Amino acid sequence: MRNESLTPEAVSDSLIGCTPTVSPATARHADGTLVDRYGRHVTYLRLSITDRCDFRCGYCMAEEMTFLPRAQVLTLEECLRIARVFVDLGVTKVRVTGGEPLVRQNAVWLLEQLGRLPGLDELVITTNGSQLDRFAPALRAAGLRRINLSLDTLRADRFREITRVGDLGKVLRGLDAAQAAGFQRLKINTVMMRGSNDDELIDLVEFVLDRGIDIAFIEEMPLGDTGHARQASYFSSEEALAGLRKRFVLLPSAESTGGPARYWRIPGSSTRVGFISPHSHNFCDTCNRVRITARGELYPCLGNNQSIQLLPLLRAHPTDDVPLRLAIVDGMGIKARGHDFSGQMAAPQVLRFMSMTGG
Ligand code: 5AD
Ligand code: SF4
Repeated sequence: MRNESLTPEAVSDSLIGCTPTVSPATARHADGTLVDRYGRHVTYLRLSITDRCDFRCGYCMAEEMTFLPRAQVLTLEECLRIARVFVDLGVTKVRVTGGEPLVRQNAVWLLEQLGRLPGLDELVITTNGSQLDRFAPALRAAGLRRINLSLDTLRADRFREITRVGDLGKVLRGLDAAQAAGFQRLKINTVMMRGSNDDELIDLVEFVLDRGIDIAFIEEMPLGDTGHARQASYFSSEEALAGLRKRFVLLPSAESTGGPARYWRIPGSSTRVGFISPHSHNFCDTCNRVRITARGELYPCLGNNQSIQLLPLLRAHPTDDVPLRLAIVDGMGIKARGHDFSGQMAAPQVLRFMSMTGG
């Protein structure tokens, strides 16, 4: 299926979450922070700055993708404007994502500007690493503290199969560059896939232990019709944990990022091993995040199709942030209580690709 036909407007929004029954006005909080109908404070913005990517991972994209025309994509100035308003409204953490954020021209400029926003405590990025060998020092200089690097395998041939086009050597050079640039916290994100990389989970943990970095294993989510058999490749966190425990001592860690990952520590190391389990655990109760797509849609929930279009507002009011601010506050009123991906592996109900919404 083509990207173009997958506009969220075109798909039913009655899926997964619930329809708001309370006026969005209840989302307005006296101190101006963003609070949804269930009392959850939104302090974390995931900002997708492009739907494009130089890889074509099978679980994320179809082989043939049609990307958005430039005019429908937020300019970097618009990205900054949105982020500034969110930070004004109490957001303290921004993750820049994509697609692959570093294939966007001048992405470093945006990161530098974001790094200077007063009130923003944490600026982080999710990248596939393909451009990190070039950009790692500039990212560090921009004030970025953490990088999440997507890496599903340590075998070059397999890497090529999973990403369809990627070069493992280049990504590993990118990781070296990031470590050399002095990023304190680097985390590998690994999507687990039966019959593809499920025999490598121990190797991946050895790899991060050697490097003194972290890893999070992710259960595949049914996002977008990628033409790949998700049901057959689904691999659960439980199974992964049981396998890893045959080799490593894993101690539960209380650390939480307010997010979906549950962490374990390996005694004698600084490495954290996380599991992101959208299927087997519902982490929605403590959800603190919302997403902005590359075309300026506010998605309060990854697993829900309801969104608010910010791009027309931004362009209709180029110098006045009030309408944007009100739309964002009202957006909290449509944040779903939760998502449920169960039973959707065969027929995904959220038809956006991950590259649209941002990982
Ligand atoms: N399910 C789980 N993770 C996914 N990612 C992309 N698509 C999916 C999916 N369908 C991951 C990438 C990357 C992060 C941005 O999201 O591997 O680690
Ligand atoms: Fe690109 Fe990341 Fe999607 Fe792979 S998962 S195609 S690297 S955006």
